[in-house]
Amino acid sequence: MSHALAGLRVLLGVSGGIAAYKGAELVRRLRDAGAQVRVVLTENAARFVTPLTFQALSGNPVRTSLWDESAEAAMGHIELARWADEVLIAPASADLIARLAQGQADELLTTLCLACAAPLSIAPAMNQQMWAHAATQANLVTLRARGVRVFGPGVGEQACGDVGSGRLLEPGEIVEALAATRAPRVLAGTRVLVTAGPTFEDIDPVRFIGNRSSGRMGFAIAAAARDAGAQVTLVAGPVNLSTPAGIERVDVRSAQQMHAAVLARAAGADVFISTAAVGDFRPASVASQKLKKTDRNSGLTLDLVQNPDILAEVADLPQRPFVVGFAAETHDVEAYARAKLERKNLDLIAANQVGEGCGFERDDNALLLIWPGGRQELATASKLTLARDLVAHIAHLRAARGAAA
Ligand code: PMT
Repeated sequence: MSHALAGLRVLLGVSGGIAAYKGAELVRRLRDAGAQVRVVLTENAARFVTPLTFQALSGNPVRTSLWDESAEAAMGHIELARWADEVLIAPASADLIARLAQGQADELLTTLCLACAAPLSIAPAMNQQMWAHAATQANLVTLRARGVRVFGPGVGEQACGDVGSGRLLEPGEIVEALAATRAPRVLAGTRVLVTAGPTFEDIDPVRFIGNRSSGRMGFAIAAAARDAGAQVTLVAGPVNLSTPAGIERVDVRSAQQMHAAVLARAAGADVFISTAAVGDFRPASVASQKLKKTDRNSGLTLDLVQNPDILAEVADLPQRPFVVGFAAETHDVEAYARAKLERKNLDLIAANQVGEGCGFERDDNALLLIWPGGRQELATASKLTLARDLVAHIAHLRAARGAAA
């Protein structure tokens, strides 16, 4: 994981709930991302998890009470409030959310929240009924209106056996959400068009030619561009992913549909990022009925025709955006990527090795960025981390071009 939170001083508040145990993993993830962490447990949280666990993981003393005489001799809670660059409460229980909304200061964590000028983020965790309750939702409206950021909650099976909204986000997701709020707004005011996922080229009503792209790389790029301040449109092939908040999504199935969706929007975009694994070929005709196996020993020959090259067509537009292609290669990655950069007249290409255990269908990846006049390797990291680095790189190249113009 790259150091998305390098040097950031995070005050982590843990409130009482069964999800408090995930707070321990969260401390590790925050530190892996480069943050310094100090932890405050509410008294109820300390019934679920021990201060010692958090002390060992954070490398700092843990506070649980406003009435700790040794710490408070030096006005410890004010010192802590001044120390923090960010306050993050995870899990945030329904009770804690209610007390924050009321501005209470009857124990250490809520007192710190009042005394601290740093941004406050909460990751709620509670039973789905409590989450849906009008009182909780009204409290969240109040908190959001005050600028409190709310991460999640997730949907799924809960510790109490219920299924629904109210699960604490996974620690990695919470760290990503916090990192997103810190992302420099390097693409503010730009329109970014991203493609993601595979295309499916139908053979008959039940079969198609597809590929192993899950869409994760492209969705991460769309989220990173949004976090950098861009207005993002995501043209997605058939994938099983939820749309990142604040992004316009256009669903397509085939390369021809993707071609139409992209070409209708490309001229209005400032940046086009072609992450989709577009099928190069499609069956010359689609059978209207399921093809039947007539004879056990006979094969089947499919006539394939070439699909349009969406990326090359966008790069050929008279008023073209900044054009970023991808190259998915199993071997000779750099040589093939360089050839694509030149042949398709791109501003930047992101090359990745694909095959068993790399590239497709995974949460991590590694990229080699090549542009006319330079190259940079981005080592293995989560796709979101790589997406952020790619976005920063695009912004840098565009700015350099603007300065040279
Ligand atoms: O989706 P994931 O599981 O997260 O995996 C991510 C990924 C491996 C799919 C992604 O990182 C990636 O490499 N995407 C590009 C895949 C691809 O089709 O590469 P290519 O080398 O065949 O194509 C070169 C470029 O031309 C790509 O930008 C592609 O989008 C574009 N292209 C290709 C064919 C075509 N007909 N039209 C196109 O626009």
